[in-house]
Amino acid sequence: MTRKPTEKHTPPAKALLADSSKSSPAVALTADHAIWQGDTEAFLKALPLEPIFDLVVTSPPYNIGKEYEKKAGLDKYLEWQKRIIDEIIPRLKEGGSLCWQVGNYIDNGEIVPLDIEFAPIFKSHGLKLRNRIVWQFGHGLHTKKRFSGRYEVVMWYTKGDDYVFNLDPVRVPAKYPGKKHFKGPNAGTYSGNPLGKNPEDVWSIPNVKSNHVEKTGHPCQFPVGLIERLILSMTNAGALVFDPFSGVASSGVAAAIHGRRFIGCEIMPAYAKSGLTRLQEALDGSARYRPHDKPLYDHTKSNLSLKPGEVRTKKPTKKKTKSDNSNGQESRGEK
Ligand SMILES: C[S@@+](CC[C@H](N)C(=O)[O-])C[C@H]1O[C@@H](n2cnc3c(N)ncnc32)[C@H](O)[C@@H]1O
Repeated sequence: MTRKPTEKHTPPAKALLADSSKSSPAVALTADHAIWQGDTEAFLKALPLEPIFDLVVTSPPYNIGKEYEKKAGLDKYLEWQKRIIDEIIPRLKEGGSLCWQVGNYIDNGEIVPLDIEFAPIFKSHGLKLRNRIVWQFGHGLHTKKRFSGRYEVVMWYTKGDDYVFNLDPVRVPAKYPGKKHFKGPNAGTYSGNPLGKNPEDVWSIPNVKSNHVEKTGHPCQFPVGLIERLILSMTNAGALVFDPFSGVASSGVAAAIHGRRFIGCEIMPAYAKSGLTRLQEALDGSARYRPHDKPLYDHTKSNLSLKPGEVRTKKPTKKKTKSDNSNGQESRGEK
């Protein structure tokens, strides 16, 4: 059951929400942008064993006792995740990518980095690890008996060596765009790429907390910018993106904004419904989101960054004197 890629959705594209109690998983394949509300393992098992996904991107439940998960022993949790991954891999296209975004499982105060636990599962399928992207963020709880955790990782695997990787759409501003070659045949010409630099493998993207523009009722949604960077670099227009644990469809929002197709699975009806609304807004062009390349907010500009009793003093503006002008002429009053 393969579908022709659409270069671009022609508005008004309609997102679909298929309910597992009424529809079969095949229904989700009839739309370019769909959420299947139900269990992801059941969904996958019902799909034909054909490679249809260009990119699988997800943040699975971490087994830390969130409202949507029952905390299980680590072994049981990994067995369950393996069953799902075993269903996904044959449905991933040759040259396709898989991004599994994980943090730590906490066991009696001991941390278990989940990427270490997941790695053998992906390896057993012959996938190749291309990057272990560190997603660094600034907000979270403070821990008392260890350093507060402020990063998670995205394990980026490809199926095969001939995979899509578009660097130009995700380049970020270079540190020194004015730098020039100082010797050799290119001496005097700019040394960097005018489109910017490779965003590297440590990404500082704010996590979605209360005053984030993308905040919904979901306790741990992806920032759209994080997925946007993955989708732009690892897929071409019209590609099919699959998120087996789609929550409020943040991956779908990134996919729809950039002309990619999307299927998500979400077990909780309220999240699936909220995901549908967001997906439709993205298709309509009205989704509010924080792009991946937006500079980080400088918290020192906020009055909240002042210590109690401290008063913000305006930066003193230095009066220009004749000697300040390097050419020795009087200023013409230019601002
Ligand atoms: C870490 S959250 C993912 C959030 C998502 N990345 C977003 O931006 O909204 C994991 C999601 O998996 C869902 N989930 C848990 N078990 C599931 C299952 N068996 N099938 C489908 N979804 C499931 C949870 O309800 C939760 O929304």
